[in-house]
Amino acid sequence: MRKVNIGLVGCGTVGSGVVQGLARNGALMGSRLGVELSLGGVAVRNAGKARAARVAKRLITTDWEALVRDPKIDVVMELMGGTTTARKVVAEALKLGKPVITANKALISAHGESIFRQVEKNGGNLYYEAAVAGGIPIIKSLREGLSGNRIQRLYGILNGTCNYILTQMEAEGRDFEDILAEAQRMGYAEAEPSLDVDGFDAQHKAGILASLAHGFWIKPSQIFVEGIRQITTLDIEFARRMGYCIKLLGIVKKLGDNVQIAVHPALVPERHVLANVSGVYNAILVRGDIVGDTLHYGQGAGADATASAVLSDLADAALDLKNGSMGRVPPFVPHEEKGSVLPMDKAVSPFYLRLSVIDRPGTLAKIAAVLGEAKIGICSVMQPEGHVGESVPLIMMLHDAPDAAMQKALKRIARLSAVKAKPTMIRVENFD
Ligand code: NAP
Ligand code: HSE
Repeated sequence: MRKVNIGLVGCGTVGSGVVQGLARNGALMGSRLGVELSLGGVAVRNAGKARAARVAKRLITTDWEALVRDPKIDVVMELMGGTTTARKVVAEALKLGKPVITANKALISAHGESIFRQVEKNGGNLYYEAAVAGGIPIIKSLREGLSGNRIQRLYGILNGTCNYILTQMEAEGRDFEDILAEAQRMGYAEAEPSLDVDGFDAQHKAGILASLAHGFWIKPSQIFVEGIRQITTLDIEFARRMGYCIKLLGIVKKLGDNVQIAVHPALVPERHVLANVSGVYNAILVRGDIVGDTLHYGQGAGADATASAVLSDLADAALDLKNGSMGRVPPFVPHEEKGSVLPMDKAVSPFYLRLSVIDRPGTLAKIAAVLGEAKIGICSVMQPEGHVGESVPLIMMLHDAPDAAMQKALKRIARLSAVKAKPTMIRVENFD
């Protein structure tokens, strides 16, 4: 039976999950695939560190280069994170023609185009199912299962940490920082949690999915991003009173020849299926021109969910090695859908606006005048009772307007003397 030796670079949350998953189901996978899967070596930064997974001492090294170059290693798993050394690990393995499996969305987002060019040139293959939406097989679904479709819309809850924080804020009214620390302890958050809460991780994932869906490479700089730091329990409560919940969404829309792509918090109607995706779960709604709407749901972060995706890539890599084939649907080949990305200024949506204002006659009229001049219609206004003090909350739901017009009006509203704090604006998504 063909033996497939795995070289694991990184044995933290995800790497340990993979080692545990292999110990549990490696033999079953091997018999399904007709190969023998074996852990050939594990490179880490600190060899003496205690790990969640049991790894034989003789397999551990701090020399990733020697591990990757070892002729006995057939497949390299890059599970260390970051974009500097990780890039070298991937480049070195691909140079040697070895298949590489990575969970590193930051790396693919930053260097995917050149990495895929290297794959084309040198052979080998790059597998990255675990890079997007944890255990959900969304890469495979887009690349293979939905390959007969033109993708018209893709809406994703793509960051488990943010969804966990927003869900806990809604359920328990707890403090943001407190919940983030909990998400870190559970292994959901990135080593640098700003990647999560400022939306960059979801930006990386949305870019990878959009590039796959539309066949041309979309750079992170082309993707509008806004995180969840400004969302308060007040916003969550007011949104709920109006029949919405707040989610961090990755949104990809095909509009004519262009693609509109953004990551930002959005008010989602409570009755919509994405409103019910809670905690660390992710979900992606993909609308194809033939299939219609499809929903892909599962845990988006954590050791086991991510390990499951890595193991599915391992199955593909092992079969490729066994059969001597690399014949998958190619990831980013420019084709007839070559297009361009629309700037966020041109995105049109309804808006939620929360202001902190002095409660005196004429305040509302001044705000309405600014919105009127910007041609932004007011749908409803709420000034909840029971708030005392110098300033009170004023919540407005606004009709569809271009983002640029809204941003301009916001600046003017923020300068009004009756407006006492930086306004909070959240876009509303109606999934049309
Ligand atoms: P982690 O817990 O911080 O683990 C990183 C591992 O890499 C550690 O074992 C570390 O060694 C090792 N490492 C760092 N620098 C190294 C070097 N120069 N040479 C050898 N080993 C090195 O990170 P993680 O959460 O597992 O995430 C790993 C990757 O998976 C990241 O790209 C992340 O974005 C991605 N990802 C994570 C999740 C998740 O839920 N956590 C989900 C999907 C994707 P030591 O243990 O000795 O420090
Ligand atoms: N930090 C990421 C998240 C890990 O919370 O979604 C999974 O990619």
